[in-house]
Amino acid sequence: MTAPASSALSSAAGAEATAVAAERRWAILVGVVIALLVMMMIVTGLHWSAMPPSRVETVDVKTLHLAGEFVESNLGTAIDADGKVTVRLVAQQYSFEPQCIVVPAGMPVTFRGTSTDAIHGFIVGTTNANTMLVPGFVATFTTTFQEPGEHLMPCHEYCGTGHEAMWARVRVVPAADFLAKGRNGERQSCVPR
Ligand code: CUA
Repeated sequence: MTAPASSALSSAAGAEATAVAAERRWAILVGVVIALLVMMMIVTGLHWSAMPPSRVETVDVKTLHLAGEFVESNLGTAIDADGKVTVRLVAQQYSFEPQCIVVPAGMPVTFRGTSTDAIHGFIVGTTNANTMLVPGFVATFTTTFQEPGEHLMPCHEYCGTGHEAMWARVRVVPAADFLAKGRNGERQSCVPR
């Protein structure tokens, strides 16, 4: 064997050793990443089962439209006896009831909503009013709309073939106008009659 041939052979062996070492490093790295992800799943799963969300409010989907808080005549915006403003709404494939929600500007407004069928959700324009609506559960949050104006309120959980056509409007009116109209206990909305 001549000298150049043997050195070519040993450099080929060296290159292979480098490649194997690099493969091994990648295999270890990927193994560590997978182990980390599995650990995260186990830890979050245990955490959620040990500490479920504190305020869970359920509602019977089968009797939603017959009796109780979410009957049609009770949907819309109410001024409660203590002066608090509450919006009640129901989502269904593929609309919200009411289709146009009226709220006062500069006052805290509590939304209470649920769904009759699939999981829906909504966001009000570019505000922080944003929730999911899950059948059998009441979603609630309180927010304040500072400026009068009109917002689009699209469904933001994919709920079926009509999802992209599912939306309502939220009209924010000056508080004085809102209070003047709502004193008789009627539910308010801006759905054209
Ligand atoms: Cu309802 Cu998407």
